[in-house]
Amino acid sequence: MTNLSLASRIALVTGASRGIGYATARALAKAGAHVVAVARTQGGLEELDDEIRKDGGSATLVPLNLSDFDGITRLGAALHERHGKLDILVGNAGVAGPSSPLGHIELKPWNDLMAINVTANFQLIRCMEPLLKKSDAGRAVFVTSATASKASAYVGPYAASKAALETLARAWAHETANTPIRVNLFDPGPIRTRMRATVFPGEDPLTLDTPDQAAEFIVPMCAPDWTETGKLYHYKTRTLLSFRAPA
Ligand SMILES: NC(=O)c1ccc[n+]([C@@H]2O[C@H](COP(=O)([O-])OP(=O)(O)OC[C@H]3O[C@@H](n4cnc5c(N)ncnc54)[C@H](OP(=O)(O)O)[C@@H]3O)[C@@H](O)[C@H]2O)c1
Repeated sequence: MTNLSLASRIALVTGASRGIGYATARALAKAGAHVVAVARTQGGLEELDDEIRKDGGSATLVPLNLSDFDGITRLGAALHERHGKLDILVGNAGVAGPSSPLGHIELKPWNDLMAINVTANFQLIRCMEPLLKKSDAGRAVFVTSATASKASAYVGPYAASKAALETLARAWAHETANTPIRVNLFDPGPIRTRMRATVFPGEDPLTLDTPDQAAEFIVPMCAPDWTETGKLYHYKTRTLLSFRAPA
């Protein structure tokens, strides 16, 4: 685990009820950040809170469906009132959506997927940018997938959503390049989570790295001394890419 100090920094993590978001929230809190943990599942958030307290850290739990875009606006207002700033935004929440040929997918699952994987992150950018600007070193990390460039068959909506997310993040990095805000992407590769098990039910999860292992690499990207922006960190190869090369 990293020895970074994030004392007195405020970190918002979406999808913190399990998987990569849970592990990242816990690791950020361990490094000293106060974590604002967002997800729908109250039980997962409470478990996270217990772990963080055991580690000596602190968290605020926000049970929120990220398709409630007005809820994201209210969260921004609440953070402004309570903390007056945001230092770290980890846009991790995501859904896999349907595994089918494109022609077999109805409009509703497409819209539901885009709402979480793309529009919620756009709304987070809109609502959290003013707060990140109040930080001396605002850091944003969005969790993407290699599928964005592979455009693999039967997961077209997921691939398209991650490609959109990557472009949004890179555009925001360009827009904020002359500010203290740094915006980057993290591609975890295959990680032992519920999402991975749902999409690849035949795979032995024990062959995969854990969310805690991935989180160790996300935390330094949230630190004030992380200077890169508009980059993609590829966990599997441990490389920082300027842009994603075609698969
Ligand atoms: N695991 C992998 O192999 C892998 C590979 C590449 C990329 N990724 C990306 O990594 C990120 C995390 O995935 P994971 O593997 O950790 O998946 P996971 O275990 O299924 O966790 C997903 C998280 O997103 C939250 N979430 C989903 N829908 C939400 C909604 N409507 N409102 C609020 N929160 C919502 C879930 O919380 P609730 O259900 O409690 O709301 C949960 O905390 C995703 O963006 C995923 O695309 C994962």
